Amino acid sequence: MTWERDNIAAMAGYVSGEQPDNIDTIKLNTNENPYPPSPAVGRLLRDFDATVLRRYPPARADRFRGLAATLHGVKRENIIATRGGDELLRLVMTTFVDPGVPVGMTYPTYSLYPVLARIQDCPVVEIPLLDDWRLPPGMASDLNAAGVKVTFLVNPHAPSGTLRPLDQVRGLADELNGILLLDEAYVDFVDPDQRHDAVRLLDQCPNMIILRSMSKGYSLAGLRFGYGIGPSGLIEPMLNKTRDSYNVDVLAQEIATAALDDQRHASQGWMAVREERQRLTAAFAAMHIPVAQSQANFLLATLGARAPSLHRGLRESGILVRYFDAPGLTDKLRITVGTPEENDRLLSHLGRLIPAD
Ligand SMILES: Cc1ncc(COP(=O)(O)O)c(C=O)c1O
Repeated sequence: MTWERDNIAAMAGYVSGEQPDNIDTIKLNTNENPYPPSPAVGRLLRDFDATVLRRYPPARADRFRGLAATLHGVKRENIIATRGGDELLRLVMTTFVDPGVPVGMTYPTYSLYPVLARIQDCPVVEIPLLDDWRLPPGMASDLNAAGVKVTFLVNPHAPSGTLRPLDQVRGLADELNGILLLDEAYVDFVDPDQRHDAVRLLDQCPNMIILRSMSKGYSLAGLRFGYGIGPSGLIEPMLNKTRDSYNVDVLAQEIATAALDDQRHASQGWMAVREERQRLTAAFAAMHIPVAQSQANFLLATLGARAPSLHRGLRESGILVRYFDAPGLTDKLRITVGTPEENDRLLSHLGRLIPAD
């Protein structure tokens, strides 16, 4: 006997990456930023007046929304602040998709999307990516034919890190009958010379919502803060109807605002990650380990049948990386770009494990 709804009883939950207590572990398994957040965050925490907590927080995080709107050249009505990007995904699902209506995504993708679809009791339509992680031709017409209401697309893609050009994103949004949720959790790490700014597509894509996360680019994974950018008609029902009354707490609002305001600090971290991404990519190539061309803060390395044993071997050496026991990924490891010292340790342990295999 279970009290759960049938779809909840039948589903498996999201499996997070391991979070060890031991701070000496080199943690390259959940794509956290290896550098600390803006010094303004530390100052704010030190000087925070606890009596402020007596009162409820600003319900819609208006100061944060105003700053994000200025940064992206949109209006405040185009922004919603959420408890991590994950809350935006849940809001999109519960606001726009009736139970039983199909939800679209690629395979592979961020493994939370199918979990959220199952919670809402929605069938999942998975479009397999091509071998080089590109979108297959005819994707939009397949999703339309299946009656999909919302499609989740992550760009840069997880877990490969590859970046889809904006004209493809716009083409997909144009062709889809439903909403396109463009998940840009990792976009801060894209090379600036790509001039990649999906926000400027919003004028032409009335059915698109962009997800941004403060977890990776702003080193605030522990805070749980993200935001959505989109046409006011799509943001408004989430902002005024489906969001929890006070979804982001007052401390989180202040910290996220201070971190977003310190673009100089954040962009120094993005640059350092990009430099290390390039160095790691070259080091893997020298070891004859293929990696997808990543524009994110992680690399997907193809290691063949030894991937699970390398995952275990690295773990025994105090280095966590991510292994996915899922079709098409069992020969690969997803490795977050760490500090130069962490990456050196990773490379030397891998070098030791590989010939011994
Ligand atoms: C592809 C993708 N989207 C969204 C998120 C959600 O990020 P957060 O809820 O930490 O902002 C993550 C987190 O790992 C992710 O990998």
